[in-house]
Amino acid sequence: MSYAHDRAYTAEESARYRILVEAITDYAVYMLDPAGIITSWNAGAQRFKGYKPEEIIGEHFSRFYTEEDRARDLPARALGISAREGKFEAEGWRVRKDGTRFWAHVVIDPIRDARGELVGFAKVTRDLTERKETQEALKRTEQQFRLLVQGVTDYAIYLLSPEGIVTNWNAGAQRIKGYAPDEIIGEHFSRFYTEADRLAGMPQKALETAIREGRFENEGWRVRKDGTRFWSHVIIDPIRDDYGELVGFAKITRDITERKNSQETLERAREALFQSQKMDAVGQLTGGVAHDFNNLLMAILGSLELLKKRMPADPGLLRLLDNAMLGARRGATLTQRMLAFARRQELDVQPLELPGLVAGMRDLLASSIGPGAEIRTEFPPGLGAVVGDENQVELALLNLCVNARDAMPEGGTIRIGAREELLGAGNSQGLRPGHYVCLSVSDTGEGMDPDTLARATEPFFTTKGVGKGTGLGLSMVHGMAEQMGGRLMLKSVSGKGTTAEIWLPAVEGDAMAGSPEIKNAATAAVAGKMRVLAVDDDRLVLFNTTAMLEDLGHEVVEAGCGEEALGHLEKSGFDLLITDQAMPRMTGVQLLEIVRDRWPGLPAILATGYAEIPGGVQVATPKLSKPFTEQELAQALTSVRRRPA
Ligand SMILES: Nc1ncnc2c1ncn2[C@@H]1O[C@H](COP(=O)(O)OP(=O)(O)OP(=O)(O)O)[C@@H](O)[C@H]1O
Ligand SMILES: [Mg+2]
Repeated sequence: MSYAHDRAYTAEESARYRILVEAITDYAVYMLDPAGIITSWNAGAQRFKGYKPEEIIGEHFSRFYTEEDRARDLPARALGISAREGKFEAEGWRVRKDGTRFWAHVVIDPIRDARGELVGFAKVTRDLTERKETQEALKRTEQQFRLLVQGVTDYAIYLLSPEGIVTNWNAGAQRIKGYAPDEIIGEHFSRFYTEADRLAGMPQKALETAIREGRFENEGWRVRKDGTRFWSHVIIDPIRDDYGELVGFAKITRDITERKNSQETLERAREALFQSQKMDAVGQLTGGVAHDFNNLLMAILGSLELLKKRMPADPGLLRLLDNAMLGARRGATLTQRMLAFARRQELDVQPLELPGLVAGMRDLLASSIGPGAEIRTEFPPGLGAVVGDENQVELALLNLCVNARDAMPEGGTIRIGAREELLGAGNSQGLRPGHYVCLSVSDTGEGMDPDTLARATEPFFTTKGVGKGTGLGLSMVHGMAEQMGGRLMLKSVSGKGTTAEIWLPAVEGDAMAGSPEIKNAATAAVAGKMRVLAVDDDRLVLFNTTAMLEDLGHEVVEAGCGEEALGHLEKSGFDLLITDQAMPRMTGVQLLEIVRDRWPGLPAILATGYAEIPGGVQVATPKLSKPFTEQELAQALTSVRRRPA
């Protein structure tokens, strides 16, 4: 706009311009004389600045400037620039009549007369306060938003083009996926997927779902820059412009590997608890059944033994009898295993040196395993002793070696080794804190799949087919290890082999002093007839014990319970008391306590298939494991006799 007067306006034209200018309310349009004095004022000026024409005409325009701008002589400089360069244009703060400020866009044009002489200035001002505020607010929120998104480190938040190209990248994305922004912007997002998912077209499907359903959400494996995987939760939202056109996708990814891991750990712990509860329940059942069977078998075996002695020498009958005894003994072995699993085995716990124990078993192991497999033993020098029952540990080792051989039908090497372990409180093995020796048997056989491994210690679980395996081998080892305060642990990989470990508590300090028990007693016939009080609540067993004792030449008085036994003791004298442990109302141990009190000199034997002699009760009485043979009974009698009363 130029206000230079190229020609003279008619009076009518001038009047029309004046009306026009004065009517404008969106712009302040007014004139200054060359010195900056206001000479005209329109409606817009009045509206923005608050002055009426009569208040402001004749005043200097610098009053619209802020204090600071006036101090910098800005008003005069603006006029100078306008006069010199033909135009001054700027944005800045201006002051209203009431002292408030507004953001103004200002143009000052010089006005010259026909001769080019400066006669004044035309000034046009617009109030941009509102626009500036909206712009600034927008800028602020955009900036805040950017800072927010950029700063989030727990979530990868980034944008994709409609084709799936990464267009921006936040701190979380960098942290979780490992790429710096300049490495990844411009790349296709499918590189975050696993190879298999990429080949299955998952990235494209995700975008398609987001377009079709307005959102895509799932969990899955994603790959970091270094190739490692993480379990992620992903959301993809399509972004559309005002016309509904797809302009890209917003993608939010969270690394929930940890959550997944802790969930899985919890699941495993729950599974382990369930497993141990199941084993306990099965143990209770098995133990109960085995206990009863044990008594029955004892009666059968005992009677058969006596029958054999008294029978006429007929080879035909003898063969039948031997066969029956063999069957009964096999049954007894089975019930022993079941009792071991149920942790109701009679244990003779003492310090054991494992290398010596294994060396002593070499021949037995070699003959049980046969020529196919070779046994190697590797023990570290100075291995500590364990606390355990020698026979049971031997039986357990034999079972493990037989399993190892069965797993290697083509032959191979069975390694027996041991190492010491120190477990702290809250160890993952669930064992009491302390020193352990871990006896291991490893094979390189067929191994077990996870299902078989999970069930291997269950009683009667076998994969060996009818008549081949009883499924009690590992059950026995498991129960025995637990009863000794240790644990059986199985590690196996299908096709690779199995390692079975028996953890046994190590001897703490010098506890190598044990007391010789019945097992060391010399086999000897009983010299001299005794008067024996036999106590058992099971009539069959009692009958059997009595028959054996009588066969050995003794006189027997029977009692069906502890109370009855005490009654007999009060009435007459005895040379020996032999009592069952598991009886209702009064157990064998309780009976023995009373007897020791009132008849301190009376020798006694505790016969039991139940190991459940209450903890803390020191039973000095010799023990006899059920079922026992006549010979074992005879040994027990001898050892009792040799003991000082
Ligand atoms: N070393 C091993 N390698 C592969 N599988 C094994 C091994 N040890 C045990 N198993 C699996 O565990 C099952 C149970 O073993 P366990 O010793 O309790 O019973 P079994 O060997 O089948 O029968 P038994 O020991 O009474 O003769 C086996 O049938 C087999 O499937
Ligand atoms: Mg077995």
